[in-house]
Amino acid sequence: MGKTGLQLSVLSFGSWVTFHKQINDALSDELMGLAYDNGINFFDNAEAYANGESEKMMGRVLKAKSWDRTSYAVSSKVFFGWRGKENKPNQTGLSRKHITEACHEALQRLQTDYLDLYFCHRPDKATPIEEVVWTMNILLQQGKILYWGTSEWSAAEIMEAHRVAADLRLIPPAVEQPQYNLFERTKMEKDYADIFRTVGMGTTIWSPLASGLLTGKYNNGIPEDSRFALEGFDWLKDRWIANEKLGRVKKLTDCAGELGASASALAIAWTIRNPNVTTAILGATKKEQLTQNLEALQVLPKLTPEAMEKIDAIMGTKPKLPEF
Ligand SMILES: NC(=O)c1ccc[n+]([C@@H]2O[C@H](COP(=O)([O-])OP(=O)(O)OC[C@H]3O[C@@H](n4cnc5c(N)ncnc54)[C@H](OP(=O)(O)O)[C@@H]3O)[C@@H](O)[C@H]2O)c1
Repeated sequence: MGKTGLQLSVLSFGSWVTFHKQINDALSDELMGLAYDNGINFFDNAEAYANGESEKMMGRVLKAKSWDRTSYAVSSKVFFGWRGKENKPNQTGLSRKHITEACHEALQRLQTDYLDLYFCHRPDKATPIEEVVWTMNILLQQGKILYWGTSEWSAAEIMEAHRVAADLRLIPPAVEQPQYNLFERTKMEKDYADIFRTVGMGTTIWSPLASGLLTGKYNNGIPEDSRFALEGFDWLKDRWIANEKLGRVKKLTDCAGELGASASALAIAWTIRNPNVTTAILGATKKEQLTQNLEALQVLPKLTPEAMEKIDAIMGTKPKLPEF
């Protein structure tokens, strides 16, 4: 992962929206088992997912599985709190108080002694960066977390954390968790380019399928049992379901067919072809989905420079880089 010695599988598995809201213990047990048996060694979570219930579910599954704790990595993220609208001041954000308390709560919910990765889920304008870097270092020294990172921070914010860590001789963030998919490329391919080239950084990218849009499942309407049909997720549906986006996904689905691949496997393979991606976090509500998505590894060698150019032309989302 980036400049660290940690080895993460190139595909990983996360629980946002799905655990507790859409799937129960039995199905999450099956999906995590399928993931682990296929070599996935990283499971992603956050305090906010299903108001803490997602971590509890993953904790119960991990306990029941009894896998060797050294054989996998598990994460949590702090910022949003877990009480939703009931959050009081100090129950969100990146103050020393909330980061420390959120870490303890995540350890309890996940039933583990330490988190392999601990992310600041968003930047916090109200907390000095020194406080965040110090707090993460204390948790590292206490052995409660092994690596710390950021999620959806700007390049400037990440570099500021590095500057502070270097000044204070503390450990800088090692990893960022940004959205990355065929629609959202700018952060990974443009904004962070200097960070990858200089201090280095691992990435655990999220929504490789743009919440399912890139599977092609929405090409002819919204299936009843899908994420965009869920109550309370209109904001997500409205973000993604637009005719001009669907038109591109339809062409992408044809392109995948020509390569003998599903649109899902193609879209996921496309993310991990970027050498700056450490791991793409998959989400799934059904075994068949995960099985199909794992085929991304077989599709990867089919992504020749010609195929990549064709995909770029269909999507029209490649960021323009400055010319020197
Ligand atoms: N750091 C952050 O801010 C942040 C934000 C979001 C996510 N994440 C992390 O990233 C992980 C993955 O994100 P994501 O769930 O949005 O990933 P995604 O791959 O973009 O979407 C996954 C969803 O798409 C549908 N799907 C997946 N494979 C499919 C297939 N083969 N055929 C048909 N439908 C399929 C399923 O939803 P339905 O069956 O319900 O349609 C599934 O739950 C999360 O679990 C979380 O750990 C982090």
